[in-house]
Amino acid sequence: MTEIPDQHHGESVLDMNVQDRAAVWAEVLRQIEAYRCQVASLPTAAKFTPEEVRETLRILDFAKPCSPMDAVTWAADGLRRYQVHAAHPRHFGLFVPSPTEAGIMGEALAAAFNPQLAAWAHSPFAVEVETHLIRVFGARFGYQQPQLDGTFTNGGAEANQSALITALAAQFPGYLENGLRGLDRAPAIYVNAGAHPSFVKAARLCGLGTAAVRVLAQSDSLVMDLSALQRQLEHDIRAGYQPVMIVATAGTTVAGSIDPLKTMAQLAQDVGAWLHVDAAWAGAVALVDELRPLLDGIEQADSITFDPHKWLSIPMGAGMLLTRHPGALERAFSLSERPDYMPGPVPGTVDPYCQSMQWSRRFIGLKVCLSLMTLGWDGYADAIRHQIRLADLLRIELAKNHWQVLNSTHLPVVCFVDSHMDPSTAHFHHAAIADAVVATGKAWISSATFAGRQVLRACVSNHGTTDTDVRELVELLCALRQQTNEDHVKGLAAVARFTPNLANKAER
Ligand SMILES: Cc1ncc(COP(=O)(O)O)c(C=O)c1O
Repeated sequence: MTEIPDQHHGESVLDMNVQDRAAVWAEVLRQIEAYRCQVASLPTAAKFTPEEVRETLRILDFAKPCSPMDAVTWAADGLRRYQVHAAHPRHFGLFVPSPTEAGIMGEALAAAFNPQLAAWAHSPFAVEVETHLIRVFGARFGYQQPQLDGTFTNGGAEANQSALITALAAQFPGYLENGLRGLDRAPAIYVNAGAHPSFVKAARLCGLGTAAVRVLAQSDSLVMDLSALQRQLEHDIRAGYQPVMIVATAGTTVAGSIDPLKTMAQLAQDVGAWLHVDAAWAGAVALVDELRPLLDGIEQADSITFDPHKWLSIPMGAGMLLTRHPGALERAFSLSERPDYMPGPVPGTVDPYCQSMQWSRRFIGLKVCLSLMTLGWDGYADAIRHQIRLADLLRIELAKNHWQVLNSTHLPVVCFVDSHMDPSTAHFHHAAIADAVVATGKAWISSATFAGRQVLRACVSNHGTTDTDVRELVELLCALRQQTNEDHVKGLAAVARFTPNLANKAER
């Protein structure tokens, strides 16, 4: 146990005195504990206007400092009132976590010790912890030592953009010095229509422009249409483009589809493109032995995005970019001359700023490390199995109640429609049901576009969700379907007075 000395090193104007500090930390802990205990009884998302939120800021007067206790209670109150509570067990939302306790503690420790992860020499413990995590996660994806390398990122979008920069640097020797002007062929990148839009942003930020992104049709099973990909590659090569990166998504954001990784790896190799697999959330199944085959072929990827801040329930933000090409990240991100103000290099180590878009950065890996230390691989595997089982239960309950599930996936995300609805008028109906669910404050789901149709989307993203929560969601959906249907028919009838071809539908 570390002893805490009575005597405290001199206080600066920015420090709190020791007594205040103990009391304020006790209050921080009380607020966190209260939130963790109460969250299931809070509305998943309360109703309020932007003006109401801004009103809470009116007390701010930075010319008149307030007590730390007041500041902490004000912040906790604002967060409790004005956010979607992803920690609520009926938050069936995007992959926003209910964070692990160890993750929260890791975040607090990292902030307090504040290691600087630009240079190894500055924070050897922190850098070695992250390097170890990169190794163990890389091994889970099937990457072999000593090729395996990687870096921590803020999240998936940064990892995807870093992958694009790494691919450009690997494929075009002149890119790092002369940028896109130095290229003899225009680069193109290939994604399926279900891929995360961060690739479009990445292309724009890297100067390729959004037109360089070939968004390809999905097959009937909503994965990359391989013949469409092949045709586009042949067309582009004939037209003088260089396919720089092919993106396979392992777990699309909306529907959880997994692209055919092995075939795409072969295609990428045939045309000399970099294969990047975006496994931002579904990569977590690599921690579960019987589910690992879903990712077969991922080990052939040149790089992989994986976000512990999604399915591993790590507080935001924690992403990773992994690669099986040692030196590829350094090639893309280090400078030809070491800035002389930086601490000297330590033999046998790599400075994180030489492998990352970031320079000074926080210790992202600590919250991941503490969570893994305390829960273990098995703890995570059990949580993942639990969420997958609940999504299966959700599918069964939906089917029993005349909802039709449209996506086919082992992953815990369910896209569904009201079987009674005429698809041609269902668009507003489903969006209205999602809004109505959110408005009750009892659960949170979203609507999305799936295979060109507006659908409801529920993802078991919270490890604390139970069978009862799933059943309550379905009950709520059924009640709101009835209500929304009546409103919908009234709305159609009103529109039909002006639009005769809708009159029949309204009468049905
Ligand atoms: C498949 C996929 N990739 C990338 C991202 C972007 O990740 P982040 O929001 O952590 O930047 C998401 C976000 O939902 C995602 O689902």
